[in-house]
Amino acid sequence: MTTVAPPPWYPAPALSGAGYSAAELAESCDRVFLLDQRDLPAREVYVTLRSVEDVAEAIRAMVVRGAPAIGIAAAYGMVLAARALRPAVAERYVAGLRAAASMLVAARPTAVNLSWAVSRMLTSAEAHASDAAEVRVAELAALARRIHVEDLEACRRMGRVGAARIPDGATILTHCNAGALATGGYGTALGVIRAAAEAGKRVRVLADETRPYLQGARLTAWELAQDGIPVEVITDSMAGYFLRRREVTAIVVGADRIARNGDIANKIGTYGLACLAKHHGTPFYVAAPWSTVDLATLDGDHIPLEERSRDEVVRVGGAVLVPEGVPARHPAFDVTPAELITAIFTERGEFAAGEIARAGEASGA
Ligand code: MRU
Repeated sequence: MTTVAPPPWYPAPALSGAGYSAAELAESCDRVFLLDQRDLPAREVYVTLRSVEDVAEAIRAMVVRGAPAIGIAAAYGMVLAARALRPAVAERYVAGLRAAASMLVAARPTAVNLSWAVSRMLTSAEAHASDAAEVRVAELAALARRIHVEDLEACRRMGRVGAARIPDGATILTHCNAGALATGGYGTALGVIRAAAEAGKRVRVLADETRPYLQGARLTAWELAQDGIPVEVITDSMAGYFLRRREVTAIVVGADRIARNGDIANKIGTYGLACLAKHHGTPFYVAAPWSTVDLATLDGDHIPLEERSRDEVVRVGGAVLVPEGVPARHPAFDVTPAELITAIFTERGEFAAGEIARAGEASGA
């Protein structure tokens, strides 16, 4: 079993930090490389980003997508912002980084991992504002790397937590892409599937194509095929057919935000799947790192849901599917209420959706 290699995006090599002085670290992290997910699976193209503006645009344009991955990309974007502000005195440095943080957070509104990562970076930037310029950059570079590595470790841990619920011979239905591409590596929902496979269980996957952006057809299928985990792509409208025939053991999805009451926001179509699962008595699991939990948002009605361009609905590839002049809508996320969720898998363990706030408060997060 391997995760996708090379990783979906990665920083300049010196960001690993080991054996590098602060000056070397500050000097070397001058670019962010991202695998352009818009081109997959047809082409594996890496883009090179040299400014925080480039990183914000890459997040907006979905070069990188998936809740944890956009948080990690934004953290590296903050390093680029700090580099550009090297000559600035402390106050101008902090003001510049606050502006960079606002730009990054505005790129996509729903996934809380983005503002979570950026505010961690900003807090560190403020704490080191009076240090030498190279120390300021090196501190941020090390923190960005830590956010990246911590997410990968969280995925592996939650994968093991969730895999305990997956029986041998299971067929798992998943939606969108909650894999290595969407995270620091390994994946959340796909992490559960990978961990089950690593534990020696036979698992097969039904991947919803996930109209209109086709993250399931293009990205989930690409990742699982590379890992040799059996996967079949279905159109979103086929899910009910397979559930009614009892061909689905469990549904496992990721999340972009988990509200205080356990409601979750995830890719458009998730709510419909949860309703189907309830009707058929099929377990509906959510896998997400703790950085996706937002205790400050009371419930799903308070989660900002991104609405994207109608062009992504009316066109597939070069082909126009909808008559000219006919409007189309494109809400990119929906809310699944806590009562439809069987359990939430995190790196801290498994929780009932309604227990999330208590679990967060017990651990002081
Ligand atoms: O619009 P996207 O592709 O960024 O949406 C991604 C999803 O909805 C994922 O399911 C979610 O971010 C979980 S990723 C581990």
